Amino acid sequence: QRSFSSSGIARSGMPSFAFAFDIDGVLLRSSTPIPGAAEALGLLHKNNIPFILLTNGGGKHESARVTELSKKLGVPLTEENFVQSHTPFKQLVEGSDTVESLQDKTILVTGGDGDKCRKVAEMYGFKNVVTPGDILMAYPTIWPFNQIFSDYYHKSTRPLPRDVDHDNPAESLKIDAVFVFNDPRDWALDLQVILDLLLSKQGILGTYSEKNGDASLPNNGWQQDGQPKLFFSNPDLFWATSYHMPRLGQGGFQASLQGVWDATTGGATLERTVIGKPHPATYKYAERVLNKHRAQMLGGHGEVKKKVNRLERVFMVGDNPESDIRGANEYNSTHGTEWTSVLVKTGVFREGAQPAYKPKVIVEDVLEAVKWALKEEG
Ligand code: G3P
Ligand code: MG
Repeated sequence: QRSFSSSGIARSGMPSFAFAFDIDGVLLRSSTPIPGAAEALGLLHKNNIPFILLTNGGGKHESARVTELSKKLGVPLTEENFVQSHTPFKQLVEGSDTVESLQDKTILVTGGDGDKCRKVAEMYGFKNVVTPGDILMAYPTIWPFNQIFSDYYHKSTRPLPRDVDHDNPAESLKIDAVFVFNDPRDWALDLQVILDLLLSKQGILGTYSEKNGDASLPNNGWQQDGQPKLFFSNPDLFWATSYHMPRLGQGGFQASLQGVWDATTGGATLERTVIGKPHPATYKYAERVLNKHRAQMLGGHGEVKKKVNRLERVFMVGDNPESDIRGANEYNSTHGTEWTSVLVKTGVFREGAQPAYKPKVIVEDVLEAVKWALKEEG
């Protein structure tokens, strides 16, 4: 049993609990730290209480992001206690006995500034990464309104891996999977290119499958001709930024693709994989990262390792009931570790509203969340 002084300072013992902190709307608004955030993380760091950052954000490699966040929040963060929206995609490089490895496949990656997400995918180990900008530069007429962005694209594109010759499909660019790593910057071009690929023959750019709309086939023939798998990393329809009202997130882009897909197919199912909070796959991945980090932190790195007690409880501190709170509530009690959801008022959720997913407690901000949790564990 641990005991904490009024300021929540731990006196002894190995904590059987830990924290998972959302970033946008809890620790930061855009790039500005929220008051109390540095103090909250500092209190846990000083008391050797494990925590991870678990965000639906992304767009940069984890190593770059933790360097930035360590400076902003005044605590040493590493990749070992940091999970962002696309981090779990690393698992698709190696694959497993049930998941196909995409390491050598040709994938389209969109989202983030310029081709930063391409570089992240390559650092994960994906070998053939194409962006919608590469396709636009190779085929300027693929989207008729992009001349105004040509300076932007000139700086961040590469020649396609092979010449795309529409007259010779065997020589054309074939995309095996489409990944939305982060919020697309050019929704129009990305929607057009992704829709083209979803309607194509075998993922070959510039073709159209004859199976599309064939009522004698499953899903009326849509996505029945080897079209690329579609992955989204973050379902957030809205998120908290430095603007006073929540902004459209990657979930908004997904909804737009759903809209053009429905209009094109008459409402056929759009097969896709979506990760990110509130999806259990992301919580499962985060808990695995947290357990590993906690074992290193509490059990030591050297030869002599201390036995680490089981992680019994994770306090998930978030600002978005549809994402952070729902995810923790639904992942809770599906296995041995309890996830307790704590909702703060510094992000998407606004004072006075009724959260669509009920947290264990609603507090002002992340510092109050940490103090409440320490009292719970006290
Ligand atoms: O794009 C980031 C946004 O969707 C929310 O991120 O940190 O609140 O999970 P976060
Ligand atoms: Mg948030």
